[in-house]
Amino acid sequence: MKRIIIEGGYPLKGTISIGGAKNSAVALIPASLLAEGISKIDNIPNITDRDALFDIIKLLNCQIKQSGNTITIDTNNLKNTLINQELSVKLRASYYFMGVLLAKYKHVEIYFPGGCNIGNRPIDLHLKGFRALGAKITKRKHKYILDADELKGTTINLDFPSVGATINIMFAATLAKGTTIIKNAAKEVEIINIMEFLNKMGANIKGAGTDTITIEGVEKMHSTEFTVMPDRIEAGTYIMMGALLGDNLKIVGFNPHHNEALLNHLNDMGVKYELEDNAIIISKCEKLKPIDIKTLVYPGFPTDLGQPMSVLLTQAEGISHMEETIWENRVGHYPYLQKMGANIELDGLKATIKGKTELKGTEINATDLRGGAALILAGLIAKGTTTVYDIDYILRGYENIINKLSDVGAKIKIETI
Ligand code: UD1
Repeated sequence: MKRIIIEGGYPLKGTISIGGAKNSAVALIPASLLAEGISKIDNIPNITDRDALFDIIKLLNCQIKQSGNTITIDTNNLKNTLINQELSVKLRASYYFMGVLLAKYKHVEIYFPGGCNIGNRPIDLHLKGFRALGAKITKRKHKYILDADELKGTTINLDFPSVGATINIMFAATLAKGTTIIKNAAKEVEIINIMEFLNKMGANIKGAGTDTITIEGVEKMHSTEFTVMPDRIEAGTYIMMGALLGDNLKIVGFNPHHNEALLNHLNDMGVKYELEDNAIIISKCEKLKPIDIKTLVYPGFPTDLGQPMSVLLTQAEGISHMEETIWENRVGHYPYLQKMGANIELDGLKATIKGKTELKGTEINATDLRGGAALILAGLIAKGTTTVYDIDYILRGYENIINKLSDVGAKIKIETI
């Protein structure tokens, strides 16, 4: 078991480099199986979700070579076999193998996907899309079996603009006959990055980043080279750390336009920063103003930044509100913030946060990936020592977080116990 130990109160000074986007990389790795040959992908983040996907790729008899953040995937000997429970439950994104293998083989057997405990996480919209394309889906105990004689393009209206369903349907439709139109598609920027990868592999997709995506099925796809876009959620997390502890903290290697919703809210709170094309320089804001925030689909305030933002709100002077609207259980970090001294009333998914309160170091548990990042932020500003347990959640999605923070002056270490 591992834990993170933080001595709070140290300023953050220097430069943090942002890695490749987790939410794009976890789709691009399975997507590479749509092609025959050897694909090369750069800027893959060093996170444990990546390793879980590698294990599935190897199970499917493909070869992975890794050198730093660059990987090559050789699909020449791909064998379409059952993706077992042990591997499938390790992460949510294992469901992307459904769309990919369905497109390529018209047959998939996979155990239910896993992932963070932030809600029920149904995949009915993914399945609805696969069915509309012509797949028959059988649910047997904890396993899905998908079969199709052929996949035929059609129009699919998503009841909710689900990121995963949009991407998975895009995968399934790449090699289908005719035209597929996804309406009410998710507009997250990672979907544009994934469309670009698929098109580079020979797919014919238009419209990612808007609510209508059109996929003309192609006969075959080929291997390619690609670079994962920067992680806007990782960048956003460090930006908020900078707003509380920065001393000209520079965060580089991301696109500030992707964080407009966050930056607009920080403006409202009185946070000052300087923007460059691919960077931000940010310092501690001495007097944060309270605000009201609701998490929304892109381009609204991202649910993945709601939990770290709630820590910022404990330091604002007055009453703030934070409402989670995407996930029905993304509030697990609040009891730990309360344990640290935060004044928070939780009513379902709505938190009323009264600041400013001094946080005190104590023993706390990460309950999910972004909630874990929020607790690290709380530990960094708290008085005394904070010990965070269950940190596997955090390592799933934040590349080298301990080194990145230590290098800019945080007193943070990881211990194996
Ligand atoms: C992705 C991101 C995650 C982010 C989320 C919302 C990845 C790997 N993860 O998750 O970090 O928090 O987008 O921005 O990209 N839903 C259904 N039926 C479905 C699918 C989803 O009801 O078939 C619901 C979910 O329960 C949830 C909402 O739709 O309430 C959003 O889910 P979705 O956009 O699919 O999120 P993910 O793709 O799982």
